[in-house]
Amino acid sequence: MPATDIVTSPVTDIVKLKVAKPLAGIKPGKVWLVGAGPGDPELLTVKAVRVIERADMILFDNLVSQEIRNLFPASTPAFYVGKIKDAHSIPQAELNELLVEKAQTGLNICRIKGGDPFVFGRGGEEMLRLKQSGIDVELVPGVTAAAGCTSYAGIPLTHRGVSQGCTLVTAHAEKELGINWASLAQMDHTLVFYMGLSKAGMISQKLQAAGLSGDTPAALIENGCCPQQRVVRGQLHELAELVEREAVQSPALIVVGQVVNLAEQLDWFTNLSSEEITSRKQLQKLSA
Ligand SMILES: C[S@@+](CC[C@H](N)C(=O)[O-])C[C@H]1O[C@@H](n2cnc3c(N)ncnc32)[C@H](O)[C@@H]1O
Repeated sequence: MPATDIVTSPVTDIVKLKVAKPLAGIKPGKVWLVGAGPGDPELLTVKAVRVIERADMILFDNLVSQEIRNLFPASTPAFYVGKIKDAHSIPQAELNELLVEKAQTGLNICRIKGGDPFVFGRGGEEMLRLKQSGIDVELVPGVTAAAGCTSYAGIPLTHRGVSQGCTLVTAHAEKELGINWASLAQMDHTLVFYMGLSKAGMISQKLQAAGLSGDTPAALIENGCCPQQRVVRGQLHELAELVEREAVQSPALIVVGQVVNLAEQLDWFTNLSSEEITSRKQLQKLSA
């Protein structure tokens, strides 16, 4: 597969892209909503790679790692349409319209995003809009961060005799959070919070107020599944302090539950031959 430069796109390019008019009589193209997984390109599915290679146009998010962007064919126009906190390259509603417009011009589009498109990825919204316009759409699932990052951190989401289940929670909402903290605290199983870094104190306080013990093991996984992955472990009561003291950066997941302690024995990524991690880091540098 070619390691090539991508066509990075400032917002102005996206605006230009938007003015293209649908051509009369043209058969609409198809849209693939593709999950890129949490960063390691080797976690891409075979189907995702096939779609990347065959699409006429690629629209990608910020959580699609540089190593994955390097797999985009040089001849395929690729545009950044991502969102980072308080900096959205394009509002979601406009992006939905853009997908429809572009498909109506006959282009086959790979719309690729971090993790899985249906897990806190707004893939459902994009698919609904496309279906409303009669555009053919297919979903290619990806490894969601909760699965990928905990695996690379040596934390099993479930473990016989320790945790019988797992709940994925977003700590970010457009309006109200609406989390039932009492039920979460009573589940006695693994809790994984996405987009929770800036709310670590609130998560810790709400769970304790709802009855979860402050000494419940907790972990922060920064840049999971990437060569620079960092795992910070501690207890629920000190979550905010850990974020502050260790200067944990986004993207990061918060994992709460007894399974976190298993990382002491199950961590395998830190011990991956340093050669292997160094060569991945070098690859990353070369492609940055
Ligand atoms: C908008 S959500 C997208 C989730 C994605 N659709 C998925 O299935 O993983 C973004 C959040 O996912 C989590 N995340 C995604 N990739 C991650 C990674 N490599 N390491 C740690 N957290 C990650 C972080 O909590 C981040 O703020």
